[in-house]
Amino acid sequence: MSAQKARKLAAGNWKMNGIKASLAEATALAEMFPEPKVDILLCPPATLVAPMAAALFGSKVDVGGQDCHMKASGAHTGDISAEMLVDAGADYVILGHSERRADHGETDHIVAEKTIAATMAGLAPVVCVGETLEQREAGETLGVIRKQLSASLPDAVDLEKLVIAYEPVWAIGTGKIPTLEQIAEVHDDMRATLVDRYGDGANGIPLLYGGSVKPGNAAEIFATSNVDGALVGGASLKAADFSGIVKALEEA
Ligand code: PGA
Repeated sequence: MSAQKARKLAAGNWKMNGIKASLAEATALAEMFPEPKVDILLCPPATLVAPMAAALFGSKVDVGGQDCHMKASGAHTGDISAEMLVDAGADYVILGHSERRADHGETDHIVAEKTIAATMAGLAPVVCVGETLEQREAGETLGVIRKQLSASLPDAVDLEKLVIAYEPVWAIGTGKIPTLEQIAEVHDDMRATLVDRYGDGANGIPLLYGGSVKPGNAAEIFATSNVDGALVGGASLKAADFSGIVKALEEA
């Protein structure tokens, strides 16, 4: 277990879901947790970052983006920069999600550059790693995660802000989750790898588990070694579902 306790974070990733009418779910969530005992984050699609930040202003629910470009500005049609997310009211940004790695060819190197950009803009990067089913079945999981962590994170990180999410690709949106022993094995190894590289301060980095987290399985996942919260996709879209996960984290 960590010497220094990491803060707890329940993070929702809305992916490519949500229109203005969906902001009612975000405000409902904020009303359910006026004084939360854990940090709460919602990452809507880019079109909703500014309106969600406005709707949640003064609440205890933070807003984040789902990606940012590595450059601050320039000729990059369709992209948005970390500075733009800050300007829109975001505090966090998800980086290197497996869907971005698969759909947009994001490499570890690109994720590291984006992590630098996010850190320089003052955003808290939520850097995602995770093995495929093929890699797990070949017994390569720890090696894959160590390599992704090593190459997706720059040497200069803000240890106060950095968040890591372990999301096995085969567990995302599938209803399948690893055994609690498998989650603990990866999270303990990630903690040791991060402390080895960044020193004792890395004990404070929140390590989130992601992949088919639901209100029904959240408590046992949060009781697992070195799990400090969750990155939640499908079950973050409705306040009724996500609130069950936030409560489970408050009680963990
Ligand atoms: P899921 O997605 O909770 O829908 O499995 C998690 C994620 O991809 O962040």
